[in-house]
Amino acid sequence: MIGIFDSGFGGLTIFKEIEKELPYYDYIYLGDNARAPYGNHSQEIIYEYTKQGLEYLFKQGCHLVILACHTASAEALSKIQKEYLPQYQQKNVLGVIRPLIEEASELTKNKIIAVMGTKSTVLSNAYPKELKEKNSSIKTKQKACPLLVPLIEENCEKRVETKMILKKYIKSLKSYNPDIVILGCTHYGFLGKQIEKYFGKNIKVLNSGIIVAKKLREYLRKHKDLVKESKNKKRIFLTTDNNIIFNKAATKFLGRKIKSKTINKLYEK
Ligand code: DGL
Repeated sequence: MIGIFDSGFGGLTIFKEIEKELPYYDYIYLGDNARAPYGNHSQEIIYEYTKQGLEYLFKQGCHLVILACHTASAEALSKIQKEYLPQYQQKNVLGVIRPLIEEASELTKNKIIAVMGTKSTVLSNAYPKELKEKNSSIKTKQKACPLLVPLIEENCEKRVETKMILKKYIKSLKSYNPDIVILGCTHYGFLGKQIEKYFGKNIKVLNSGIIVAKKLREYLRKHKDLVKESKNKKRIFLTTDNNIIFNKAATKFLGRKIKSKTINKLYEK
């Protein structure tokens, strides 16, 4: 069983591509909607919430969990791998940032990479740090875009206000002349076409879902014992908040109808 953890709905956009690429596995998706968005929380809070989510998914029998959330990957993953995971043998947690770093560092020619993300993701400096580690000549320019998640969740992608805000966010990044842009947030793919248009055709915009799914396939090929393929193709969707609201959002974020279940808040043992 593979666990997919996110602060809420956004991770469904990652899961959508994972499911397409790797259908013959069982999956549990857990969205911590009751405490979303994570993107404006502190590192300590994001770490605690993510740890609680993992604890829950491990108890459900997941041996591998994907943090399908850039904010949780940026703020919690490395501490989780160092301090929390060692107590568990035969379990692992992967995030969404490393696959994008690998792809972006391979593709960039002028070594200037732009990253759009939540406030916490940008503050964590996870992208610039990991890109530098990969290739010390890469320069990363980041922009926190805190207004985009609520606008997308309110279905305002086509509104003029959204276009104005988006243009403003992009203007400062574009002035650095990047050749690659990383959409460092689960939601931004919904604005992908507009983002591509504002950056112009010489700048490549990387969307996480497909890249994460492709890298996960490589990982699973190398770690066959961690999770086994399954003919059952079990799909379980859990949320810490109202499941009717979650089901409705899934139609947009996952592109199909689902039935989710509400679980007790993660911090109630
Ligand atoms: N899933 C988050 C991310 O990818 C966006 C929503 C949130 O802030 O919780 O950064």
